[in-house]
Amino acid sequence: MCGIIGIVGREEVAERLLDGLKRMEYRGYDSAGICTLHDGDLVRCRAEGKLSNLTRELATSPTPGEVGIAHTRWATHGAPTECNAHPHATDEVALVHNGIIENFRSLRDGLTKRGRTFESETDSEVVAHLISEQVEAGKSPEDAVKAVLPQLRGAFALAIAFRDHPDMLIGSRRGSPLVVGFGDGEIYLGSDALALAPLTQKIAYLDEGDWVVVTRDSATIYDKDNNRVEREISTSGASAAAIEKGNYRHFMQKEIFEQPTVVAQTLNSYVRPLEQQVALPQMDFDISAISRVTIVACGTSYYAGLVAKYWFEQFARLPVDIDVASEFRYREPVLEPGGLALFISQSGETADTLAALRHCKEEGQTIAVVVNVPTSTMAREADLLLPTHAGPEIGVASTKAFTCQLAVLAALAAHFAVKRGRLDREQEAEIVSHLLEAPACLNAALNHDAEIAAMAHLIAPARDVLYLGRGADYPLALEGALKLKEISYIHAEGYAAGEMKHGPIALIDEAVPVVVLAPSGPLFEKTVSNMQEVRARGGKIVLISDREGLEEAGEGCLATIEMPRVHPLIAPLVYAVPVQLLAYHTACVKGTDVDQPRNLAKSVTVE
Ligand code: G6P
Repeated sequence: MCGIIGIVGREEVAERLLDGLKRMEYRGYDSAGICTLHDGDLVRCRAEGKLSNLTRELATSPTPGEVGIAHTRWATHGAPTECNAHPHATDEVALVHNGIIENFRSLRDGLTKRGRTFESETDSEVVAHLISEQVEAGKSPEDAVKAVLPQLRGAFALAIAFRDHPDMLIGSRRGSPLVVGFGDGEIYLGSDALALAPLTQKIAYLDEGDWVVVTRDSATIYDKDNNRVEREISTSGASAAAIEKGNYRHFMQKEIFEQPTVVAQTLNSYVRPLEQQVALPQMDFDISAISRVTIVACGTSYYAGLVAKYWFEQFARLPVDIDVASEFRYREPVLEPGGLALFISQSGETADTLAALRHCKEEGQTIAVVVNVPTSTMAREADLLLPTHAGPEIGVASTKAFTCQLAVLAALAAHFAVKRGRLDREQEAEIVSHLLEAPACLNAALNHDAEIAAMAHLIAPARDVLYLGRGADYPLALEGALKLKEISYIHAEGYAAGEMKHGPIALIDEAVPVVVLAPSGPLFEKTVSNMQEVRARGGKIVLISDREGLEEAGEGCLATIEMPRVHPLIAPLVYAVPVQLLAYHTACVKGTDVDQPRNLAKSVTVE
């Protein structure tokens, strides 16, 4: 994880580096730091904690210079202290690193034996020392980097500055993303196009194993075998406008309220309203020949995948395997020839998901990805790109990206069903009309904001909260619990409603609120029975259902939230809203940092 940026510029860089870090703070916010080249020196300033601390620090210890690197950190090796903050430096070299150097212990032992001393506990500092050794032995920066890269195992993106070469930087990527930006007489390095958006829209994406020597007017790229290569320069669509909260208190709140718009925007690319047909992007494989789908993702994206499993099986009778990426990759999954592997990711950079994607590719699977960042590594490595159009998601807890993923997956489920002869034209038209109702239903769900805000006072004092759901609403229970944990730090668990009686019911007492997601429909009665089992043991119920459901089972609940009556295909999209709002308002009552909750980061680019 972490965000890195580098500028070989013609004007002072500190302010611009800081701005770049601000745009990447979603990648981590445990510490931040800057190093510039000035008067033959490497000038460093670092601070523990959020970027605002570094900004304060820079006011008294400025870093002048026209060339520099900077970093925002999500701690992996070593506590989030100032001395573990990047850039790491020796007398000759300073660098910023995103990723993990897996063999850093043995490298560090070797360096220690050779008399080098370390100031941090990080894996990254060893790279600075290894390069420094080469430079001290008389090698050029290029030859030093060339000698060190093959010694490193793991995932990394690096930006390296050299004291005695003040007009250049070297960047390198393996596993973690790195882009080169081309400005007017300036060249930039960054973890993503968003970081560089105010500086340039002209971006080249480095390939796996590439490294690059950047000066003011040239970027010389080498591949993993040190051959000179050209990488295409494209125009990034990343917005240069500052990412603003507008009238909202938090990004998460803004993103929750954007959902009707961005879901409509996303659906626009997947349905033809006039023809009442589902329309997927062109594919160069026969989707009707797919006999099995393997879905892999992490976090909230994984829960979107779990919902899709219900849909693909129910509507298209298509068998689905699903796993979290960190387990999938290392459990030696059996993949049938001709299978489709589907990866879901907001960022398109999550290291576990990316490793799983590459594994499936090696195993000959067709690769489809549902991603929100169309220029991301996953998007570029896929056979079939299914973009979500949620726009930049800044709040660490995913909201609008999730509902947009669900919108794409619902359209994909319908498409599979049509291709497999499970939906005729009339049924397809009906499904499309339900999908098109989703934005209005999301709006209707958002109208309960004030009511949910009031309810949050009932949830905030709890130590534990349970969420129950059945069928495609079970993943929503998992997502509701995850949202609450992430931002309010209240322990929460999602359970399949029917599974309660096999253990978790032992936890129920008057202090444990139980949030039940139960749209009326074929599973309603059964879910309500499980809810009654909780109530009989003193559990306090928050029931989320439609009017019919609440009329039937709402009495005696601690609280109820009324959702519009919706088709099962869009229920998970709509029911996402109340669980998001409940987590959001509970966190506000508790006064936690909603957009940057402790210990988390938005894009996790380490395994
Ligand atoms: C992190 C974020 C989550 C996100 C997960 C997967 O843990 O905090 O919000 O769901 O990564 O990220 P992805 O970008 O692959 O969807």
